[in-house]
Amino acid sequence: MIGSTFATPTPTDTPVVQSPLLTLDGLGVSLPSVDGPFDVLADVDLTVGRGEIIGIAGESGSGKSMTGRALLNLLPDGASTRGTIEFDGTTLSSLDRKGWQKLRGGEIAMVFQDPTAALHPMLTVGSQLTEHMRVHLGLSKSAAKARAVELLDQVRIPDPKNALKNYPHQFSGGMRQRIAIAIALAAEPKLVIADEPTTALDVTVQAGILQLFHRLSSEMDLSVMFITHDLGVLAALAERTYVFYAGRVLETAPTEELLRNPRHPYTSALLKARPETSDVDGVRSELTPIKGQPVTASTAPEGCPFAPRCDDAQDACTGLVPALVRVPIIEDLDMPSTRHLAACVVHSPAGAVSKES
Ligand SMILES: Nc1ncnc2c1ncn2[C@@H]1O[C@H](COP(=O)(O)OP(=O)(O)OP(=O)(O)O)[C@@H](O)[C@H]1O
Ligand SMILES: [Mg+2]
Repeated sequence: MIGSTFATPTPTDTPVVQSPLLTLDGLGVSLPSVDGPFDVLADVDLTVGRGEIIGIAGESGSGKSMTGRALLNLLPDGASTRGTIEFDGTTLSSLDRKGWQKLRGGEIAMVFQDPTAALHPMLTVGSQLTEHMRVHLGLSKSAAKARAVELLDQVRIPDPKNALKNYPHQFSGGMRQRIAIAIALAAEPKLVIADEPTTALDVTVQAGILQLFHRLSSEMDLSVMFITHDLGVLAALAERTYVFYAGRVLETAPTEELLRNPRHPYTSALLKARPETSDVDGVRSELTPIKGQPVTASTAPEGCPFAPRCDDAQDACTGLVPALVRVPIIEDLDMPSTRHLAACVVHSPAGAVSKES
C-alpha cells in the first residue's frame, strides 16, 4: 500500500540529517548576459551534517562549482541568488562584507583542483600557513609556527619543521595539494569545500588525498563537501552523495546505496560512463558514454532536464519538473527510505512537483 506509506506529498523532500551544519533551501543562481539573466542553478536543496563528508557529482557544467561559490559569495559579477543558505545557525544572506570575510577562509575554506592557484610562489610555506592563523585566529608568531608544524604533520608532509622554510615549487604536485589543504585548515574551518582536488593528480597520489580528507574529517570533526565529476571516487569517501544535472539535484542517497542501487536514469548512465568502470562488486562492465550533450539550467527543456538523453523517457517526463522525492527501498516497497531521493517521474507520487512548477 504505497499510497498510505508515502509521507504526505510535499513539494520537495530533503534527506533526514541529524545535526545539519549547512542547509541549502531552494538555492537558485542567475547570471547576467546581454540577452538577460540566465539560470545556472535551479532550486537546489542540500544539507551537510556536522563532521559529515558529502559528495557532489555530475557532468561538466552541472553547477557543482557554482554551488560551492554561492556558499562563499564568490559568484561572478551581477549574479543574483534565490532561496536560503543557513550555515551554523546563520542565514548567509544577512551577512555584511565583514561577515562574508570572516566566513571565507575562516569558517568555510575551499580547496581547488590546482594547488598552485592557492599557493603564493614567492612566499614560504611557513609564512602562508601562519598568516592565515594570525588573521583568523589571532595567534602570536610563535604559537602560529607551532600550529603550522602540527598541521603539516597532520597532512603528512615529511619533516614539517624544515618544510616551513621551503617554497611551493620545491614540492611535488601531491605534496603541494597537501600543503594547500593544510592552509585551508589553518583557520580551523567547520566546512571545507573541495572542488575536484584530485583531478590533476595521478591515481596513487589521488588515493592518498582521499584518505587524508577521510582522516581529517573524523579527527577534526570537519564537514567536507567533495566535488567531483567521477562518482567512483566518492565510494570510500562520502557518506552521502548528491548527483547534479543542469543546475539541479536529480538524486541523493547514502553513497554506497547510490552506487549499488541508482534510482535515477541519469545516475545509472553516469556510472556506466565511468572510465575503467567496474561495478561495486568489482565486476568490469563495458563503458557506455551518455548519449547527447549535457544541457544547463537555462537550456534545459520543459520537464525533466535529462529526458532528451534518457533511454527510459516517457510522455510524463516532458511536462513538469519532477520533484526530488523519497524512493521506496527495494527490499521493502512499503517503506520509503528517508535518505534516498530521486527526481524522476517514475518515483514521484502524483501531486509532488517541484517548487518552481
Ligand atoms: N563566470 C561565468 N560566467 C558565465 N557562466 C558561467 C560562469 N561560470 C560558470 N558558468 C556556467 O554555469 C554553469 C555551471 O557551471 P559550474 O562551473 O558550476 O559547473 P561544474 O559542474 O563545476 O562543471 P565542471 O565539472 O566543468 O567544473 C555552466 O553552464 C557554466 O557554463
Ligand atoms: Mg567545476
